[in-house]
Amino acid sequence: MATARATSSTIVALRFDGTTLWAIDQTALPWDERWLELRTAADVAAAIRRLAIRGAPLIGVAAAYGIVAELSRDPSAHALERARAILRDARPTAVNLRVAVDRVYEAADAASADRLGAALSEARAIEAEEEAASAAIAAHGADLLAGARRIMTHCNTGALAAPGRGTALAVIAELADRGALDHVLATESRPLLQGARLTAYELARLNISHELIVDSAAAGLIASGAVGAVIVGCDRVAANGDVANKVGTYGLALAAHAAGIPFVVAGPISTIDLETPDGSHIAIEERDPEEVRAAAGRRVTLPDTRCRNPAFDVTPAALVTALVTERGILRAPSTGALAAHCGVAAA
Ligand code: MRU
Repeated sequence: MATARATSSTIVALRFDGTTLWAIDQTALPWDERWLELRTAADVAAAIRRLAIRGAPLIGVAAAYGIVAELSRDPSAHALERARAILRDARPTAVNLRVAVDRVYEAADAASADRLGAALSEARAIEAEEEAASAAIAAHGADLLAGARRIMTHCNTGALAAPGRGTALAVIAELADRGALDHVLATESRPLLQGARLTAYELARLNISHELIVDSAAAGLIASGAVGAVIVGCDRVAANGDVANKVGTYGLALAAHAAGIPFVVAGPISTIDLETPDGSHIAIEERDPEEVRAAAGRRVTLPDTRCRNPAFDVTPAALVTALVTERGILRAPSTGALAAHCGVAAA
């Protein structure tokens, strides 16, 4: 039985008041809980680019409200086009961004008499769908991982990354609610430390037993039997089941495979991109090398050390034990099975 444990992190990362998007500045966490006041599509795009707002489902919702914020100032067709152009490619890897922007654009474009109203109701619908998806993912994922008890996770996939309780972290929270979780190992997720700064913060607020590890400790700990499963989120799942997620995910999948433990990916249907045939076609964001030269705001290299900084990697479908979405559990995702899971006939 779970004991007296807070069952909700009560984190709400975004609030939209009709004209302005208020967002927790995730670059300041966990030291400082400060709210950003984002009044235009350009404000929202800038916040997404610098990871003040981040996590695949959350950037989709934020961008949806970014269009509404822009239209609340200027409801013209020109403003709608401009907002779409500014937001759609703010980051390239998470497909949720493009899908949410296109949905709000199309709803507003089809309602020239009330673009603002149509955009607002579409943005609210997207947010509500993602919140419902989070709850369903939590339940399905917890059914799948009921016996694992000790779990490793990567990056941040909680309430800071998606409406509701998130994706992979929502599964972890649900396992804790059910009394089926002993401990979590969270990777720090260099270079921007989403695991150290955000996941450890969320786990602490949830009162879930956890330890933070450096990324390079993960494979050895998996091999030693420290966890019974690995669960991560996703930024884009290609039609064949290949998964783009935070850089380092592929290594965790290889280690889980070698150790014979489940490697589970949790994410909403909105993260599945059936138009991208496989992972080789997913654009991987390359970020500023300065992020690698620094740790927690301080440079740790010579100023001119050359660096590579891919923000994501691709895990082949063959290494994915199961994909968990709001529609349930898809074991060993493959092209036909994934299309059927999404309710689409395979091409
Ligand atoms: O670069 P970030 O912090 O946006 O990367 C986030 C991730 O990789 C998450 O694992 C992913 O978006 C899943 S969100 C629930």
